[in-house]
Amino acid sequence: MSLNLTGITLTYPDGDSRLTALDDVTLDVPRGSLTAVAGPSGSGKSSLLAVAATLITPDSGTVTVDGTVTTGLSRGELTDLRRRKIGIVFQQPNLLPSLTAAEQLQVMARIDGRSPAKARGRAMDLLDAVGLAPQAGRRPHQLSGGQRQRVNIARALMNEPTVLLVDEPTSALDHERGAAVIALLARLTYQRATATVLVTHDATHLTAVDRIAEVHDGRLGARVVSPPGLRPARSPVR
Ligand SMILES: Nc1ncnc2c1ncn2[C@@H]1O[C@H](COP(=O)(O)OP(=O)(O)OP(=O)(O)O)[C@@H](O)[C@H]1O
Ligand SMILES: [Mg+2]
Repeated sequence: MSLNLTGITLTYPDGDSRLTALDDVTLDVPRGSLTAVAGPSGSGKSSLLAVAATLITPDSGTVTVDGTVTTGLSRGELTDLRRRKIGIVFQQPNLLPSLTAAEQLQVMARIDGRSPAKARGRAMDLLDAVGLAPQAGRRPHQLSGGQRQRVNIARALMNEPTVLLVDEPTSALDHERGAAVIALLARLTYQRATATVLVTHDATHLTAVDRIAEVHDGRLGARVVSPPGLRPARSPVR
């Protein structure tokens, strides 16, 4: 199962008329694969992510998340679907200042009704996966920008999402740290078998992705970019 967008058109009110942000967009992202969505500012990247996250309902088209067609679901059903199936990483790590790295993750599990012991175990496992086990007890102001973004990514994985949606995770980072975050996302995508969409306008460190979907004026074109040799080793999809 995967993330599937079919024939998505999205318009926003624009004075007396409407602005077409997404124009008949179709995109299929299988589990265990990483699709980058690249394109100039204002081309519709964040709108695409918001539709995939079921945060915005498109004018037409269908969003299917792990086999569930989201059309016609109530607000409560969508909230539940997001909590169980979708991890979202926003551009700025919106971490809570008073919580340690481990606690940022555990809060997510508490919302989901997991036992505190299980939540702590999973939080430590994920912090280890993003290379931050030694920093588990630190609060956001005691972490670097790149470390904060890694906590953000680990937190999005806390409820074992099928779909991982990431908007410009490297924009506040220098090139080297940005590349490390992309490589980490690629590894987690394969290890945890998520259908991952990564929005970026920076095409320089996209060698680790499976494909780049370019968006221009709300229209999507897909092409395969990475030669197989450049891809990180793929772990068995569970
Ligand atoms: N809430 C809104 N109301 C009206 N127009 C909007 C709204 N959000 C976005 N737009 C318009 O829709 C188009 C696509 O915006 P979007 O935020 O998806 O672009 P983007 O590719 O993410 O850009 P950036 O790289 O700058 O983040 C733009 O023309 C933008 O002005
Ligand atoms: Mg954007």
